[in-house]
Amino acid sequence: MERAFVYVIVGGGVAAGYAAHEFVKRGVSHGELCIISEESVAPYERPALSKGFLLPEDPARLPSFHCCVGSNEEKLTPKWYKEHGIELILNTQVKSADVKSKMLLIATGETISYKILIVATGARPLKLEETGVRGSDAANVCYLRDLADAEKLVNVMQSSSGGNAIVLGGGYIGMECAASLAINKLKVTMVLPRAHCMARLFTPKIASYYEEFYKSKGVKFVKGTVLTSFDFNTEGKVTAANLSDGSKLPADMVVIGIGIHPNTSLFEGQLTLEKGGIKVNYRMQSSNTSVYAVGDVAAFPVKFFGETRRRLEHVDSARKTARHAVAAIMEPKKTGEFDYLPFFYSKIFTLSWQFYGENIGEVFHFGDFSGKTFGAYWIHNGHLVGSFLEGGTKEQYEAIAQATRLKPAIEDLTELERQGLGFALSV
Ligand code: FDA
Repeated sequence: MERAFVYVIVGGGVAAGYAAHEFVKRGVSHGELCIISEESVAPYERPALSKGFLLPEDPARLPSFHCCVGSNEEKLTPKWYKEHGIELILNTQVKSADVKSKMLLIATGETISYKILIVATGARPLKLEETGVRGSDAANVCYLRDLADAEKLVNVMQSSSGGNAIVLGGGYIGMECAASLAINKLKVTMVLPRAHCMARLFTPKIASYYEEFYKSKGVKFVKGTVLTSFDFNTEGKVTAANLSDGSKLPADMVVIGIGIHPNTSLFEGQLTLEKGGIKVNYRMQSSNTSVYAVGDVAAFPVKFFGETRRRLEHVDSARKTARHAVAAIMEPKKTGEFDYLPFFYSKIFTLSWQFYGENIGEVFHFGDFSGKTFGAYWIHNGHLVGSFLEGGTKEQYEAIAQATRLKPAIEDLTELERQGLGFALSV
């Protein structure tokens, strides 16, 4: 059977949810829009999976975190999609796409045609096997990308209560999962390949603050080493992790957060790819004018970075690229070029930080690293290009965002260091 829509979104994650919301705001007609997702639920705020979802008491559960509650807007439940005449095809993978004939083949065997396609397929976790280690399928080895992963993680965590948890990787998935596991009273060891956590963003000084905080919550760190193999019991469960430094860590459960791959395979050979994602212009339009790409899968030009294309794996960019693509599709004449200030945040234990811009150049730390509020500025070619703040108020976060967006010239570095957060508040 063949079905036809004006607009089709492939993927049912954060970007899909925000795109649907924008379509409705801009007056999409009933029956024009369809979302096809291999997940079993309507689009939701993925960051909740490593935060509220893993709490031991009063954990977040759907429908509480459907899009767009993450930006304090209405909650798009399945009823909302129905009321707005949007077809949600769930539990269904898109098997192939033919951008020349504007046709998708889905897992049920049906074909879906479109006039405009939005690719919002996100990314999938890098598997252990890709690093030469086997064990991904073990019952007590967890990844975290979607709701099914989060449900498995909660079950494994509950059945491993009081036991040893190993977290591989020191990025935000590793950090947020380690915090949640410690809150759930597991004995957590983080295995980091690099010298400190969040190595792509944090300076050693910032990382040291968080690592000390984690240690105060009982989390141990093993650094500069990687997993080489697991030991398994007769049921195929992991019982220990063997590391490249020769040590062995006992394990009741393992969480792996070692990176992601963008889901581009449907379009390889059909659309131009860049930076591992689908190359798009300032309108989020790909090399085929009927196909747009948004969220983690899109490599888009970032004016802030001097027009170079980047693929950002952050929720804010998923929300905003999605909204911009829909604006460009529905009201092309009124929609300007996408101008994005990169933004990333995380919440762990009682801590919470935000980062804006780019972490290149010289770093200047400010604030009280033994207290609650501190941060850093990155200065490149004499201009402020990046700002980090832990423990800020709404106004303080807005101030560092605004200061970073303006990229002010910094003439006196000593003065900047002296003023600290006050500098952003005065810009
Ligand atoms: P997303 O992954 O949300 O959605 C992709 C969708 O496409 C999925 O529904 C998938 O099943 C579907 N799909 C893929 N291929 C398909 C196919 N062939 N057919 C049908 N469906 C298909 N960011 C941040 O800034 N701060 C944070 O604190 C966090 N925290 C966080 C926690 C966790 C656990 C994760 C996994 C991620 C975060 N992030 C984050 C990152 C953020 O969630 C991420 O950038 C966005 O979800 C990206 O949105 P997309 O819609 O691009 O992908």
